[in-house]
Amino acid sequence: MHAAAPAPQGPPPYQVVGKHAVMPETRHDEAARFNYLANMNQFLSAEFLPRVKRAYDKRALPRFHSEHGRPPEHRREVRELMSEEPAYQAWSAMRRATMEQRQQAGRSVVLRQLDRLNATAKAAAAEPGLQLDPNFLPPRYLTGVDHHCMPGGYLCELAPDDVSAPANYDVGIFATTGGALGRYSDGGGMAVAEWLKREHPEFKPRRILDLGCGLGHNTLPLAQAFPHAEVIALDAAAPMLRYGHARAVSLGVTNVRFVQGNAEAVKEPDASFDLIVTCMFLHETSYTAIKRVFGETRRLLAPGGISLHIEQPQYQNMDVYEQFIRDWDAYNNNEPFWTTMHEMDLTELATEAGFDRAKVFETGVRAVVDAALFPQAAAAQKQEDYGRSAAWYVFGARA
Ligand SMILES: C[S@@+](CC[C@H](N)C(=O)[O-])C[C@H]1O[C@@H](n2cnc3c(N)ncnc32)[C@H](O)[C@@H]1O
Repeated sequence: MHAAAPAPQGPPPYQVVGKHAVMPETRHDEAARFNYLANMNQFLSAEFLPRVKRAYDKRALPRFHSEHGRPPEHRREVRELMSEEPAYQAWSAMRRATMEQRQQAGRSVVLRQLDRLNATAKAAAAEPGLQLDPNFLPPRYLTGVDHHCMPGGYLCELAPDDVSAPANYDVGIFATTGGALGRYSDGGGMAVAEWLKREHPEFKPRRILDLGCGLGHNTLPLAQAFPHAEVIALDAAAPMLRYGHARAVSLGVTNVRFVQGNAEAVKEPDASFDLIVTCMFLHETSYTAIKRVFGETRRLLAPGGISLHIEQPQYQNMDVYEQFIRDWDAYNNNEPFWTTMHEMDLTELATEAGFDRAKVFETGVRAVVDAALFPQAAAAQKQEDYGRSAAWYVFGARA
């Protein structure tokens, strides 16, 4: 007799989400709504998506074969084919709906306490570490797009000193990740810090730059891993920086300076950083901007320094069906640069920017499981060969 397979571990309850001074408070029914969304998202990816693949393998692919005498060669062909499939239509519509629901659920939580949140962030701004530029002109690609359905986008300001957009981002991200990024949604930064300590134990960066830092979810783990480093967290959006700074103050992290600026033209001297990171940032820029960001990264990196870009994997050498599924965000989740970015040859981009081709590398970093949320998974992770599975694609280059 076989032992019963262990029951799959669902998302933890919303109540485990990490608290800090600007994290919006949630009432019972608001938390219940996020729990529903987290479970729905898990159902969509773990249960429903395999059915979409079965519809592709069993119906759509044979149909394409009989019409063309070959399998699809490009994800565009897969999209055309699958747009007729009811399983894909249902999955796609539900995924979009959960994204919209997350944003509207977060917004209603934030709006009823916005005055308090804005006042708390404003009071924290008296502490060192926040550098806003009232004359700053944000890049055009950030205006007019509600990236991943965020109402008003990153730049949205409903009142003076507003933090509504990042508060919504922070309070609702659990619904999308199901807690997979940990209590403080900082799994990306934790993974990078862990990778650096494991792969480069001798590396002790004195200055660290996080481009497109957002509200600092993934900046703080690096600041904590290298407490003697001076960390610059740069972003174009003042609301993200106000909130990120207040959050860092509340969490007791003091070696980060949140600076408003454009990652395409950073106001820092040549060769002044030992570590430059971006996390889920490049895909939100543009074709011209990404080249400038690589150029700036090369200019700013000190000899021996490391740059790391954390993203979803590039499309090169990826099966066309997987490309099609990953490209969903470009068509349905307001990510206008997603497709182009994932098609780009980052090695070419880096060498054009002046990096030595021999010092360019690709690797993966794996989420550090938050043991308090997922004790079984954390215990399993400890026993595994750490290098084997990677959750995030990393494109890196050394100066
Ligand atoms: C998806 S968020 C990622 C935030 C953060 N890195 C994280 O891991 O949570 C992308 C961020 O990039 C910022 N951004 C986009 N273009 C920028 C630019 N040219 N310069 C600075 N920040 C930019 C946006 O304002 C937004 O906060």
